[in-house]
Amino acid sequence: MWMLPLWLWILFPGCVAVTGPQTVTGPEGGSVSVTCWYNWGYEMNGKFWCRKRSSVHCSDGFIIRTSGPEAKVQKGRFSIQDNHSLRVFTVTMENLTETDAGTYHCGVVITLWSGPRHAVEVIVSPVLPTSMPSTMEPPASTESTTPIFTWSISTEDKASMPPTVHSMGLSSQASNIHLLLLVGLKLPVFLCMVCAVVWVSVRYRGSSND
Ligand SMILES: *[C@@H]1O[C@H](CO)[C@@H](O)[C@H](O)[C@H]1NC(C)=O
Ligand SMILES: *[C@@H]1O[C@H](CO)[C@@H](O)[C@H](O)[C@H]1NC(C)=O
Repeated sequence: MWMLPLWLWILFPGCVAVTGPQTVTGPEGGSVSVTCWYNWGYEMNGKFWCRKRSSVHCSDGFIIRTSGPEAKVQKGRFSIQDNHSLRVFTVTMENLTETDAGTYHCGVVITLWSGPRHAVEVIVSPVLPTSMPSTMEPPASTESTTPIFTWSISTEDKASMPPTVHSMGLSSQASNIHLLLLVGLKLPVFLCMVCAVVWVSVRYRGSSND
């Protein structure tokens, strides 16, 4: 049974994919969850979470892994839970510290230390000593509140980037089409009309001179 995933992975390495977010952010002292998707056929394989060393290697073995079942596995501040029907597994890191920031892999265990994986950048956002939730008030030029404010705006921008780019692409496409219509259709029609008017008036003048 476990041979099937192995063969699929060897024969179709690109198709046997694990995907997930590129980056996740959690506050220092708080927690962060990462959900990764895997392809059909890998439900019964183990799922792992590790620090990235290279694109195919973990730096120090698996931090935490399942052995296939959906039961939640907990190990210190880390937990991992598989969901076979959705083909996702969720890794949670609690009590985040600065040293938790870095690049990780979520992946499917195919051989002992290997398998398809996806790289996720974990960002730990610093918690400021005076963390008042009312920083949205006019910041009265308090220097410590400014970074939070800017940061939250930039993440929102990041989140809304794809739709914006998409709609910009669409509108520029629309204006391109309009330009093509103008040059390819409206301009020739206009020139034809001008020619016709000139031709008719020349002929009219010619025939009236006769
Ligand atoms: C996280 O930290 C709190 C307070 O220091 C502690 O009570 C809790 O057990 C920690 N959680 C884990 C999963 O280590
Ligand atoms: C998997 O996800 C489905 C849909 O959200 C849910 O109903 C089911 O309980 C989940 N299974 C586990 C083991 O969490």
